[in-house]
Amino acid sequence: MTQHKVIYDTDPGVDDAMALVFQALHPDIELLGITSVYGNATIDTTTSNALYLRSRFCPGVPVARGAAAPLHRAPPAPLGWIHGDNGLGNIELGEPGDTSLDARPAHQFIVDTIRAQPGEVTLIAVGPLTNLALALEADPEIATLVKQVVIMGGAFGTAGVLGNVSPAAEANIMCDPDAADIVLGAAWPVTMVGLDVTQETIMPNEWLKDFGGHGDAGRFVWDVSRHYARFHKDSAGLEGIYVHDSSAVAYVLAPHLYTVRKGPVRVVTSGIATGETIQKPVTMKAPAPDWDDRPAQAVCVGVDAAGMLDLYKNTFFKAL
Ligand code: BDR
Ligand code: CA
Repeated sequence: MTQHKVIYDTDPGVDDAMALVFQALHPDIELLGITSVYGNATIDTTTSNALYLRSRFCPGVPVARGAAAPLHRAPPAPLGWIHGDNGLGNIELGEPGDTSLDARPAHQFIVDTIRAQPGEVTLIAVGPLTNLALALEADPEIATLVKQVVIMGGAFGTAGVLGNVSPAAEANIMCDPDAADIVLGAAWPVTMVGLDVTQETIMPNEWLKDFGGHGDAGRFVWDVSRHYARFHKDSAGLEGIYVHDSSAVAYVLAPHLYTVRKGPVRVVTSGIATGETIQKPVTMKAPAPDWDDRPAQAVCVGVDAAGMLDLYKNTFFKAL
């Protein structure tokens, strides 16, 4: 089986943490590094959570600290009511263990790692896209050297799914729309795993309960998801949680579970629709100069949600 060599760019974050454990356990993923970014919490919190998760689930994997704020805007307020005040569902975090950080900032770590293994590195980005934009600015050639970029972000209106932080915008894109527009305009192959498919995929609480009896990783998934589940109950009436960041991992492992539509994507960077992602499908022939000279990227518009959930659960249950 091919191993996917992955840099995981993340703002942990409950669902970020659940997606990290998924990668740490899956035999087809080799984690080359974890890069932190502000988003669900401050950069101090997301970085210390990345270090905690590294010690507990993937010892030895480098962690590099990333951006503290968007390219041109103020950092967002931490989302304590969603991810907990500690960013990890307010669960008790024991000793942080190995707290060593890579000496480089995240964007330089990304550049160097892609350059060291041309054509082999998959970037999975599940937070604001600031680190990726900074990496492109530092070394535009990485766009031709990376294998693929898979982003949890965006909302394209499939089956009426709109934004989650405004009627127009998804949270990761809204945090740094300028960075997102740069990343989506670069000549690297991007797949967007947005709300169109992540809100179609729900982990029910009853289903999550089974994880409690499956080792340290399974117990962690159950514990860390409780506060997040209360948020989903209060905000959407769900008896479970949307599967955002783990869906980006699932796309890398099993792209056949997803239906994609190709076409250039723009991000609205000002006005009431700031953060909106708009694709011009390749099938649309009308000229649209703001899209037409940009690369066709892939947007997920359909998912085999049951298949995704089976992939996640089997990864944990087989790992025991
Ligand atoms: C995204 O926003 C964050 O709160 C989650 O971690 C996920 O990456 C969903 O919109
Ligand atoms: Ca995230």
